[in-house]
Amino acid sequence: MKFFADTAEIADIKELAATGLLDGVTTNPSLIMKSGRDFMEVTKEICGITDGPVSAEVVALDHAGMMREAEILRKIADNVCIKVPLTIDGLKTCKALTGEGTMVNVTLCFSANQALLAAKAGATFISPFVGRHDDNGFDGMELIGDIRLIYDNYDFRTEILVASVRHGLHVLQSARIGADVMTAPPAVIKALFKHVLTDKGIEGFLADWAKTGQAI
Ligand code: E4P
Repeated sequence: MKFFADTAEIADIKELAATGLLDGVTTNPSLIMKSGRDFMEVTKEICGITDGPVSAEVVALDHAGMMREAEILRKIADNVCIKVPLTIDGLKTCKALTGEGTMVNVTLCFSANQALLAAKAGATFISPFVGRHDDNGFDGMELIGDIRLIYDNYDFRTEILVASVRHGLHVLQSARIGADVMTAPPAVIKALFKHVLTDKGIEGFLADWAKTGQAI
């Protein structure tokens, strides 16, 4: 499963990229707002840190406007992936852009039928929002399972990018189901490395090693 960082914070992206385990980055207008950075400038900087896809979201709601914005965004770097909302105009834009060889991430997916439509529109990635789905009384992981089943039934190549990930259990369940990618805030990714027994084990080994009086 690929790991994307869901952030526009440069320091966090650099830290995760240095582990060699980062496969891409997703941003959205809220994350750009939080960063306080210029959209074009920060997107270009992120594209220089990772070779993987960097999702940059359009804000127009109509097809012509989305195409106009995508034209500007895709010139930033070869690894820019245009993010469009799951609407009729968004999917029209998805079909047109992927037809021209541009990567497209269809975002704000909350149903398996929406995911089916995105795959038919040739989306590179579909982003079902599991956290927001859970928040509203639905089962986010059940949605991922349904999409996996449907995509496998028809051999759709669209990658399932689990988004709105809130904790390690979302990551574990996504991997069990066979999602292609998950995107999570840096803090959630960093927490995956941690286990209390790992820390305790290191502490015990180092204490015993010190008693040997040896050095490597
Ligand atoms: C990613 O592409 C999404 O924009 C993001 O995961 C949304 O997460 P949130 O529900 O925590 O805002």
